[in-house]
Amino acid sequence: MSAPFDSAHFRLVLGHVPTSVVVVTGLNAQGAAFGVTIGSFTSISLDPPLVGFFPGVRSQSWAAIRESGRFCVNVLGSHQEEMCWRFAKEGDDKFAGVEWVPSAGGSPVLPGSIAWIDCEIDTETIIGDHTCVVARVASLDHVEKAENAMVFFRGKVSSVKHGG
Ligand SMILES: Cc1cc2nc3c(=O)[nH]c(=O)nc-3n(C[C@H](O)[C@H](O)[C@H](O)COP(=O)(O)O)c2cc1C
Repeated sequence: MSAPFDSAHFRLVLGHVPTSVVVVTGLNAQGAAFGVTIGSFTSISLDPPLVGFFPGVRSQSWAAIRESGRFCVNVLGSHQEEMCWRFAKEGDDKFAGVEWVPSAGGSPVLPGSIAWIDCEIDTETIIGDHTCVVARVASLDHVEKAENAMVFFRGKVSSVKHGG
């Protein structure tokens, strides 16, 4: 059934919902690093600890990362705009020149991330043209007193300063 509006209008209106910006990283079965910029990440459950996000069904990076069954959510600060756009394009060379360190689960932690959440895939459900990924949190940490978060609003990256 076709919607009573076009996709450009859908994107324009939904772009008014500010989102966080994370890069979901992980390794494929051969141990190669992949990553994709994601705005749909959210916390789901505290007990058990579950988080989730929605990669597109055609996401090449998610197809690779899911082979290992685990991934790391890198929460971006506003100083990481280059990382945001680097991982928001297609291609296999996204990690060129990036000096990442492995998380406890072995997934890439990107330099400058303000928090990172190591996860194991729990369930995947295809919903429309995206997959709903629900994952168990294995470990997580943050930098001391992150000052500026990155948010995505009306198609652009913005900075939100901590009020404390
Ligand atoms: C701020 C921002 C948020 C994004 N959020 C998502 C998202 O939640 N799900 C998604 O599938 N793509 C999202 N994208 C688009 C992907 O990053 C982009 O399609 C990327 O090229 C996919 O690469 P891949 O094919 O290597 O997975 C987002 C892009 C940006 C800039």
